[in-house]
Amino acid sequence: MAQFLVTSALPYANGPIHFGHVAGAYLPADVYVRYLRMTGNDVLYVCGTDEYGVAITLKAEQEGSDYREYLDKWHNEIRALFDRFGIHFDIFSGTSRCPHHEKTAQAFFAHLLEQKLVQDRVEKQWFSEESGRFLPDRYLQGTCPDCGHEKARGDECPACGTWIDASQLGNPTSLIDGSKPILKDTRHWYLDLPKIQELGLEDWYTGKDSSRPHADWKPNVHGHVKAMLKDLQERPITRDLPWGVPLPDGITDEEGKVLYVWFDAPIGYISQTMEWAEKQGNLEAWRDWWQNPDCRVVHFIGKDNIAFHMVVFPSMLLGQGDSWDGKPLNLPWSVPANEFYNLQGRKFSTSENWYLDNEKFFENYSADAARFHLLITAPETSDSEFTWEGFQTTNNSLLADKLGNFASRVLKFNAKRYDAMVPSSNGCCDGDQALKDADRAWAAVGPHLEKNEYRKASQSLMAGCDSLNQFFDSRAPWKLIKSENKADLEECSAVLERCIAYLELLSRRLAPFCPTSAQKLRDMLGDVASGDGSLWGEEGVDSPPAKISPGLALGEAGVLFKKIEDQEVQNEIENLLNASQLKA
Ligand code: MF3
Ligand code: ZN
Repeated sequence: MAQFLVTSALPYANGPIHFGHVAGAYLPADVYVRYLRMTGNDVLYVCGTDEYGVAITLKAEQEGSDYREYLDKWHNEIRALFDRFGIHFDIFSGTSRCPHHEKTAQAFFAHLLEQKLVQDRVEKQWFSEESGRFLPDRYLQGTCPDCGHEKARGDECPACGTWIDASQLGNPTSLIDGSKPILKDTRHWYLDLPKIQELGLEDWYTGKDSSRPHADWKPNVHGHVKAMLKDLQERPITRDLPWGVPLPDGITDEEGKVLYVWFDAPIGYISQTMEWAEKQGNLEAWRDWWQNPDCRVVHFIGKDNIAFHMVVFPSMLLGQGDSWDGKPLNLPWSVPANEFYNLQGRKFSTSENWYLDNEKFFENYSADAARFHLLITAPETSDSEFTWEGFQTTNNSLLADKLGNFASRVLKFNAKRYDAMVPSSNGCCDGDQALKDADRAWAAVGPHLEKNEYRKASQSLMAGCDSLNQFFDSRAPWKLIKSENKADLEECSAVLERCIAYLELLSRRLAPFCPTSAQKLRDMLGDVASGDGSLWGEEGVDSPPAKISPGLALGEAGVLFKKIEDQEVQNEIENLLNASQLKA
């Protein structure tokens, strides 16, 4: 029993969420949260939209939309997709709609300033004389000082990934008006990462700080951060923009200074915890998650967010010192960062029509099948991809043929031969090798989920179903039932009793992956599953599911996973290719 605060990267409210995002930062978190809850942990799952910054303002301006309207539209759309996927947050707010966000972000900034971990200075930045405004980040395009790529942005080069100091950008152009900007003086505030590094950032990172002992970071996280820590630089944390969290009062008289989006956004995890706490009737309860050293903070993100969650945000937290009523804030306990998830060999791209239409997808296919497929192909250690053929195989050969089929053959046989009631068992099948194999396979599911190994967890779940099908096949109850021999008939009912017991266990093992189908299965199990399906239970290698009382009534067998026809898959692939060509 432990306490976990789980977050998923706050999606920018500037476009649809696609399967790639879901597979990387949201679905794994949802499965983890469900599993942690089933095993008795105290869990809070926080997310919301990221609503400031150039990624937002630029697109809203290009569309000629009002920021508020633009954000609301995408906030609602993103929220609806999470609902479709069965991804449930305890709170899903947004950085410009959370009533605690602005003052929390401002307090963070003020505390860092007090501790002298933020310094201001005047530097030259690109300014468009045509539009009369500064051009931060992505408002600029020019040549990368590192690799020479000509379409580098003012903050980052898409080709080589380097963080760019915009004043070093070669031959810049303004993306809002096409003009050639000039360099002009402006005051900005810089986060002193080298100084914070000395305050204990490395102790946390290496796990030396005994209050934060969880330091077995994923290899992709470790590789990235180790390199960064060798050469930490100051980072600007303010911008000249018409939209953002304003600097706290009394800092400057200059107009139009806001906090950099990557400064305010991660604070959104905290401000939205406050919003949740307030809605529960006790605002102070946020401290239970952020200031209780026993609470484990877990951030689910994509690999492009590693630097911010492993270096910048931890530094901001560490730099708060005792400013929050004398108690430090929790640093991340675990950061399960995933690689990228592509679509049929290419990156998901809305602008190039290389994506799956979410609405259409869910009209035709089940969220649970999609969930399971994204998990069994999760981009855990390297980039991976969604293919229609792969999705069909997962759905048909695994979910329908192995899992669904086991449930339906057992329940149909039982309905026909035992009047849909649990037959009595003399226990003669106990210890059967196939059942032991199923025990071993399913005992591995939980530990894999705990370690954020979703591929292995889903494979173990399926391996258990394989063994159970083998058990059913090798015992051939359809032959036993026709025998005149008493021992055969007893064996037949014992086989069915075991199968039903394993189906009940399956409904719980399946629940974090496919919550709707798991519930359906419980309904099909009638009185056998009338108990608390919300608990994981301790069935494991040496403890098969307990014997079920004879006579309990089962419900009606139904279809858990519908097959997908070859023709459908062909059509989907053609549609995808056609749509992307129309655009090209
Ligand atoms: N909006 C960012 C992205 O999509 C993620 C922000 S995560 C947060 O890449 F921590 F800053 F909130
Ligand atoms: Zn570059």
